[in-house]
Amino acid sequence: MRPYELIKAKRDGKKLAPEDIRAFIEAYTSGAVPDYQMSALCMAVFFRGLDAVELGAWARAMLESGEVVDLSDTPGVKVDKHSTGGVGDKVSLSLAPLAAACGVPVPMISGRGLGHTGGTVDKLESIPGFRMDVPVSEYRRLVREVGCCLISQTASIAPADKKLYALRDVTATVDCIPLIASSIMSKKLAEGIDALVLDVKVGSGAFMKKVEDARTLARTMIGIGAEMGRKVTALLTDMDQPLGRAVGNALEVVEAVEMLRGRAPEDYTEVTLALTAEMLVLGRKAASVDEARQKLARAIQDGSAVRKFKEIVQAQGGDPRAIDDYGLLPRARSTVDVLASQGGFVTAIDTEAVGMAAVVLGAGRQRVDSIIDPAVGFTLLRKVGEPVKAGEPIVRIHFSEEGPVKEVKERLLAAYHFGPQAPASRPLVVERLE
Ligand code: URA
Repeated sequence: MRPYELIKAKRDGKKLAPEDIRAFIEAYTSGAVPDYQMSALCMAVFFRGLDAVELGAWARAMLESGEVVDLSDTPGVKVDKHSTGGVGDKVSLSLAPLAAACGVPVPMISGRGLGHTGGTVDKLESIPGFRMDVPVSEYRRLVREVGCCLISQTASIAPADKKLYALRDVTATVDCIPLIASSIMSKKLAEGIDALVLDVKVGSGAFMKKVEDARTLARTMIGIGAEMGRKVTALLTDMDQPLGRAVGNALEVVEAVEMLRGRAPEDYTEVTLALTAEMLVLGRKAASVDEARQKLARAIQDGSAVRKFKEIVQAQGGDPRAIDDYGLLPRARSTVDVLASQGGFVTAIDTEAVGMAAVVLGAGRQRVDSIIDPAVGFTLLRKVGEPVKAGEPIVRIHFSEEGPVKEVKERLLAAYHFGPQAPASRPLVVERLE
């Protein structure tokens, strides 16, 4: 089928043949199908969806558009975790060393910030010298020798997704379940994993605002994993407020290291431990989630988790001294506090708005080629359910340039909602699926 006919067929709600999907994605990857035809097809998929057979073909074609890394020379069950994206979501930074310290090999391909959400690559690159553009041969060696390697998406791994992702970002086709599911699963399956834990975020700071959509996304990804012979467990976790208290790249590194020392905010610690425990079970390092939680507690207590993080930092060219001396991380020139407009309790935080405020401040990108400032961000001094008096500080802004500060303050103030009563608390882990 010619590209035009394929687009028209999907536009009209017809089912596409797997070989046509494969040929289209191959031609797009090689440049034979131009961006405008692929964006038209994505928009047709946005409205018409993909059934299970089409989705399987789409995900496999994306996966096989590049190199599928072979990690069979690393013993053990290789397990990764993927988050669908949130604000203050620094889980990967603490989860990867924790799982590796407990003996699970962790190969992890991470992304940069997307829209209002932060990205692991931007966070880790705030550690002086830390490199994530590691060649695949080095990645394989580090997974084998260090037990973990975190890399950014290379041109050789799932190149169809790399190209398509950038295209979807500017053609309003990101928030489409089959496209998200195939995007995530294609790159995760290409990195050489045996099993995967998914952190599907749900709430005002997530791409999926409703539990039903998050559940459908999780089920779709579990289905793709099953078809490719990989075990996938998913947790739906709360993203109705930022995770932890730090938002911004270097600030989040500090909070992540504090988590490994047992000193981080409870919500962030709990979500990290819940996800890492699932990795230990999938990686056969614990027979149950309870046993896994005990092992994780020990790795924090005996210092092996933080030692593993330093080892990873050193192996990837970073300065491990920054893990003990936070003064070696980028630091903003100044801070200013946002003050509560009224007293009572914080009843809600519009988390996407907080993420956008961080982007405006320079912690994330407004354009693909924007240069971020790793030092800037927020410390959330009040979170949902906490009491506050009018005029008390609710957020500390860490900034380097005065320019955006006024707008950022206004955005943050508008994101906070106050009321006379604390709202009922929400579960951090909303649901578990496998
Ligand atoms: N994360 C991804 O990797 N892909 C998407 O499409 C959305 C979030």
